[in-house]
Amino acid sequence: MLLTRIRLPWLSVCKTRVAAPSRLQRSCAPLGNNRWQHTTAQPSPCSWKARENSFEVSYGGLVMQFDYMWLRDHCRSASCYNSKTNQRSLDTASIDLNIRPEKARTDDESLYLTWPDGHVTQYKLDWLAQNSYEGKKHSAMHPRSLWNAGSYTRADAPSVSFEKFMTCNQELKRFLTNFLLYGIAFVDDVPATVEDTEKVTQRVSLIRETMYGRMWSFTSDYSRGDTAYTKLALDRHTDTAYFQEPCGIQVFHCLRHEGTGGRTLLVDGFNAADKLLQRSPKLFELLTQVPIKHEYLENLSDHSNHMVGIGPVLNVYPWNNEVYMIRYNNYDRAVINTVSHDVVQRWYAAHRELTKELRDPDNELWVKLTPGKVIFIDNWRVLHGRESFTGLRQLCGCYLTRDDVLNTARSLGLQA
Ligand SMILES: [Fe+2]
Repeated sequence: MLLTRIRLPWLSVCKTRVAAPSRLQRSCAPLGNNRWQHTTAQPSPCSWKARENSFEVSYGGLVMQFDYMWLRDHCRSASCYNSKTNQRSLDTASIDLNIRPEKARTDDESLYLTWPDGHVTQYKLDWLAQNSYEGKKHSAMHPRSLWNAGSYTRADAPSVSFEKFMTCNQELKRFLTNFLLYGIAFVDDVPATVEDTEKVTQRVSLIRETMYGRMWSFTSDYSRGDTAYTKLALDRHTDTAYFQEPCGIQVFHCLRHEGTGGRTLLVDGFNAADKLLQRSPKLFELLTQVPIKHEYLENLSDHSNHMVGIGPVLNVYPWNNEVYMIRYNNYDRAVINTVSHDVVQRWYAAHRELTKELRDPDNELWVKLTPGKVIFIDNWRVLHGRESFTGLRQLCGCYLTRDDVLNTARSLGLQA
């Protein structure tokens, strides 16, 4: 069968084997007015169609629509992109917003576009698939395993041991794999000192210094204006919701406890949010939209602070609705005055439903922290609390910058 120069809907053309009259070639010529035709000698792994407002590429089961300006802006040629520094050289503002390519062609691996000034851009088809909106919206940014107390216990996520963790990258990778999946991970056998706790955290990331200091160590001495510095029970919450960017990771190490109680409560906030999404998408959506203020006011003789953080309870990536941060702290939630009373009423209903999920006993993982066991908690995901306690309890820890934890994970080949 010989088929050439077919003016048919593009996809049917490209799925048809076409015998070339002379030699194998895959070329495309403009038909004018952004209409194109395509000749090909064998099945191509991709097909394309130049539409008026987008360039359509079908490849690997994906149908992708690319804006023309985007295509020119994302040229990775040597003159447009510095591959040594991985930075754009092209001045985006110099591109005609109505730019269109004059020619297009494909081979097995790439799409080639020729622009009006003669510049040719080569796009690897895999790169297009990985970087397209259509490709991204179907994939998770941060793959995770949602859990409740039962499923986390059954998963039996292994702890790592201090000595090996400090020297072996595979052990660090194992630790981070758990951390990314569950939002919590443990290092065991750590000497019960502030200095060794600091060493463990620095293996993972940079320490984020806050008004609490770099490494903090405290007992229930009311030394700061916060309930954490008491012996009282603490309901589940995320920390530093009163920062514009809440701290990414929290580290705890119980150095000493001579008394009873004081177990740590952990709840997977993403799991609770997912339950809410399944049950009531509208309430979930409201919690992603209403900006809520959190505030930290401290007026002690040697500490005076006033922090304000603003953001929704559920922060989602808009292209795939994936929750990436939960900001939940009923202690520090400030006056709600960012929306009108009718929205406030619905917001309280949504907040109540999320709270029900967060308070479901099935979701409560209780852990007794003991000297030697350092816990890392994803403060953008896992809520923590504690039961009241008696006796002397000394805890140390710090916050880590989230970017740097994820950076370490990516450098070890993990998706983060
Ligand atoms: Fe806390």
